[in-house]
Amino acid sequence: MFEIKNLTFGYSEGKNIFKNFNFTLGGNEIISVLGPSGCGKTTLIKIISGIIKNYSGSIFIDNEKIDNRINTIALIPQNYGLLKWKTVYENIELVYKIKKIKPDKEKIIKISEKLEIKNILGKYPEYISGGQKQRAAIARAFLTDPQLMLMDEPFSALDEFTREKIQNLFLKLRSEKKIPTVIITHSIEEAIFLGEKIAVFRGNENISYNMYNNNFSGCGSEKSSDYFKFYSDLKNEIKRGSDYDN
Ligand SMILES: Nc1ncnc2c1ncn2[C@@H]1O[C@H](COP(=O)(O)OP(=O)(O)O)[C@@H](O)[C@H]1O
Ligand SMILES: [Mg+2]
Repeated sequence: MFEIKNLTFGYSEGKNIFKNFNFTLGGNEIISVLGPSGCGKTTLIKIISGIIKNYSGSIFIDNEKIDNRINTIALIPQNYGLLKWKTVYENIELVYKIKKIKPDKEKIIKISEKLEIKNILGKYPEYISGGQKQRAAIARAFLTDPQLMLMDEPFSALDEFTREKIQNLFLKLRSEKKIPTVIITHSIEEAIFLGEKIAVFRGNENISYNMYNNNFSGCGSEKSSDYFKFYSDLKNEIKRGSDYDN
């Protein structure tokens, strides 16, 4: 269970992106977050992951106040967060070094096989494709056994074919280990495919949101008229949200 209570934060005085903002993630579900560009989605992820600290309010994991020294939160940033002077293997191994524990080579190899990156473990990030970088970032995230996984537009830089493949690999890995996950995306299709619930943010000050239950997650290429109705409801909601404050 993950909970945000009375979050208030703004970059500049007098403009609060979040004001007494509340958000709850019940079980070990995946929640997709949609919303107009610039509304504050990345800011929220930075707050939860401890990059931004000067907020007021409380964040809880399993009813305990979050402590970034103790809690393990995996963040997959938009640019994958790989160090270019380290090989893919060394990048993945870093999670153990950060936690000051002995790297589990067997586990790294095993997850690399599942994500089909075993053959590029010795390469440097600039010599691999976007899809391979993404899979390295996913491997790293799962290895930390996180209590919460945060993903910021994780698949947006990939071509359609690669995106579908990696989304499926991600869902497969995640079905083995149900970690509460927040996925920010600007793709409605992706939000529906991945999220068990979908939150649509609105406004760029004092953000609010509507939460939808999603009956279409994981649905394949066969899309019903109900799917398209849901899709257009979400689209209209995002559009209304961007008109909100502008
Ligand atoms: N470091 C920063 N300093 C000041 N303003 C920022 C900073 N980062 C983002 N912002 C502003 O905060 C708002 C929300 O940004 P962001 O969270 O990146 O939105 P989103 O991810 O939803 O597109 C935007 O108006 C953006 O310009
Ligand atoms: Mg963003």
